[in-house]
Amino acid sequence: MKNILVTGGAGFIGSNYVRYVLENFPDFELVNLDALTYAGNLENLSDIEANPQYHFVRGDIRDAELLRQLFDKYHFDAVVNFAAESHVDRSITDPSLFFEVNVGGVLTLLEACLKAWRLRPEDKYCHDFQPGVRYLQVSTDEVYGSLTPDEPAFTEQNPLAPNSPYAASKASADLLCRAYAHTYGLPLNITRCSNNYGPYQFPEKLIPLMLNNAQHDRKLPVYGDGQQIRDWLYVFDHNRAIHQVLTQAEPGQVYNIGGSNERANLQIVELLLKSIGKPDSLIEHVKDRPGHDRRYAIDSSKIRRELGWAPAYQFEQALPATITWYQEHATWVEHAVSGEYQNYYDKMYGAAER
Ligand code: NAD
Ligand code: TYD
Repeated sequence: MKNILVTGGAGFIGSNYVRYVLENFPDFELVNLDALTYAGNLENLSDIEANPQYHFVRGDIRDAELLRQLFDKYHFDAVVNFAAESHVDRSITDPSLFFEVNVGGVLTLLEACLKAWRLRPEDKYCHDFQPGVRYLQVSTDEVYGSLTPDEPAFTEQNPLAPNSPYAASKASADLLCRAYAHTYGLPLNITRCSNNYGPYQFPEKLIPLMLNNAQHDRKLPVYGDGQQIRDWLYVFDHNRAIHQVLTQAEPGQVYNIGGSNERANLQIVELLLKSIGKPDSLIEHVKDRPGHDRRYAIDSSKIRRELGWAPAYQFEQALPATITWYQEHATWVEHAVSGEYQNYYDKMYGAAER
């Protein structure tokens, strides 16, 4: 496996994945297809844009003709799909966009893979594919719904029970993948990871949003009582797991990814304030998110057992490192919150190419 189409590689997790692969696997070539929505930021990749193993294409995963051209040009062995609308709060105000991108986009990608990788492209019953090809769907623990305090962590056997429009769109995409594997034999995997933290996360998500507000002595809006629990994993560990699944897993397998690191939101916010020397009085309890999931927890024993993956980073070290990263990248944060980063594409690639 050498040529990978990475979709959504200008976002938080995708840009960290692109960097991880380029730094650690010199024989891989990556094409990053990203629509550069509000969440896509080429500044995340400014240090590697000249790398000859890396190519950026601005485009939409729903564009079947563009996908066909890219497959023709680069002969991808694998597709890793990070591209998605990813913010639960936005899904509550604009659910249809989430279904168009997160479901429609995946359908278009799966069709492109079938067409490019079938040994007999004109035969719709053909179950024979080019050797070694793989589609990897980056999914989320949110497809399993919410846990009570005493329930065991989600395993891959848990039923899908999504609660937010975002989670429902991701679960729908997982079901589409399942159907494509079952009906057409498309070699694919699904990974379901818990909440990520680390560098380059768009400052609408809990940790970078709270850090940015605290730095500017603005209120920190904690939804409801702040006792909702998330299972936090450092983004680098997520990406190592994704790459292991891509290169080692049997097709058809689903893997949960998580660090067994459950924390209440309020606990995280208090930790952030303490780390940067700001008072708890900045915390403001605001109206709760509608349908807010109470607890996520991931049982990742399958990937640990079958692929030998384990997190390399402990929260106690990786969270302070993440805080330091945001402090040292104040310009990146400033550009992200002001919208200035959206001019980067024009500067680097020229407005005419939009
Ligand atoms: P993000 O919002 O930071 O990045 C999403 C990227 O996708 C952006 O670069 C955006 O421009 C691009 N994109 C959006 N629509 C597109 C389209 N139609 N065509 C091409 N590109 C498009 O998201 P993230 O946090 O990096 O999440 C990446 C993936 O991982 C998502 O699929 C998400 O569901 C999943 N995930 C995220 C987390 C988390 O904690 N952030 C946890 C588990 C799984
Ligand atoms: P978020 O980062 O949006 O991820 P997700 O909803 O996908 O888990 O939110 C993490 C948790 O933090 C979630 O329980 C909602 C909560 N939250 C707040 O309390 N205030 C905020 O301003 C944000 C963005 C999130």
